[in-house]
Amino acid sequence: MKQVHHIPVLCKEVLLGLSVKGKTLLDMTFGGGGHTRAMLNSGAARVFALDRDLTAYNIACELANEYSNRIIPIHGKFSQISQLLKQRGIMKVDGVLFDLGLSSNQLDSASRGFSFSRDGPLDMRMDQSDRDSAYQLVNQTPPQLFMSWLREFGEERAALRIVRAICAAREKKEITSTLELAQIIETAVPRFGYMGSRKIHPATRTFQALRIVINDEMGELKQGLKQAESLLATGGRLAVISFHSLEDRIVKRFFKGYTESNLTGITTSQLKLIVRSAKRKQLDCIDNYPIDDCLPRFNILNKSPITATEAEILCNPRSRSAKLRIAENV
Ligand SMILES: C[S@@+](CC[C@H](N)C(=O)[O-])C[C@H]1O[C@@H](n2cnc3c(N)ncnc32)[C@H](O)[C@@H]1O
Repeated sequence: MKQVHHIPVLCKEVLLGLSVKGKTLLDMTFGGGGHTRAMLNSGAARVFALDRDLTAYNIACELANEYSNRIIPIHGKFSQISQLLKQRGIMKVDGVLFDLGLSSNQLDSASRGFSFSRDGPLDMRMDQSDRDSAYQLVNQTPPQLFMSWLREFGEERAALRIVRAICAAREKKEITSTLELAQIIETAVPRFGYMGSRKIHPATRTFQALRIVINDEMGELKQGLKQAESLLATGGRLAVISFHSLEDRIVKRFFKGYTESNLTGITTSQLKLIVRSAKRKQLDCIDNYPIDDCLPRFNILNKSPITATEAEILCNPRSRSAKLRIAENV
C-alpha cells in the first residue's frame, strides 16, 4: 500500500506540537494509518482511529494487533464522534487530527469510483453503506442544482457546458461508469481549446464536486470541528490538514470564532477582560454577539497555514495543495 502524504509536516510541526508521550489522541481520518502510526511511534499512549470507510476500519483493526491494542478503531463519521467516544467511556482527548480528502486506497481503487482515469462504477461513497452514490446524482440531479454544485464545490468555470452535456447524454442512456462520465466532460470541454488550455484534466473539478456533495464533506467538517472542540481537554491541540479552499476557509473561520473577525483590533487577553466585565454587569451580548460566542475558543498557533516543503512535494506530489492549521484549546 502506498504510504500516505505529509507525515513529515505532521511529525515536525504538529505531532500536535506538544509532547505526545502518554497522551490520548484522536485521529479523525485514519485512512491508511500513516498519521496514527506516527503518533504511536512518537509515544502517544493510545489513538482512537476513526474512519467512515470500512476498508480503512479493517486496516485499523489489523494495525491494532501490531500496536498491542494502543489503537482503538472506530467505524463512523465526524458528526458521530462525540457519541461514539461516549459509548467507549471517553469524554476528553489531548489532541485531534483531521487529514481531509481521500486516502490513497480510495483514489487508487477503481471499484470505488473516485478516479476519472480508472474505469469503475459511479460510486464515490466513502462509506459504502450510505444511500446515494454518484450514479444516482449524475443521472437524476436537476440541471440547475447540478450546476450550482459544480460552481460551488468544483469552482468549475465551464459548469453550464458540462451539465448540458451530461443531461444530453443521460437522456439517451444512463451514465454508469467513471470513464464514461469523464469522456462526456472531455468532449464538452476539450483540454485544449474553448476555455483555454487546462493544466488539469477537464473532469477533475466535476469529480471533486460530486465527491464533496455525496459525502457531505463540508457539513461533516463543520460538525466534526464542533465536536472536536468539545472533546479537547484544556491545552489540547486541534490540527487540520485541508486540500480545498472551501475547507480551509471553514477551518480558519472556526478557529477564529467571532473574536477576530467581528471584534477587530482586540487581543485575546483584552477580549477576556471585556467578557469578564460584561458578565459582571450581567450583559448578554457584546456588540450584538452573545457573550459565549465572543469568548476565544482557541489560541491559533500558526497565523498562516503551514504548507509542504519542496522536498516533501517531490516525494508526494499530492501534498502540493495541503494546508495545515493548528490551534490550542484555551
Ligand atoms: C486523506 S485520508 C487520511 C489519510 C491518513 N491520514 C493516513 O495517514 O493514511 C482521509 C480519510 O478520512 C476519511 N473521512 C473523510 N471524511 C470523513 C468523515 N466525515 N468521517 C469519517 N471519516 C472520514 C476518508 O474515508 C479517508 O479514509
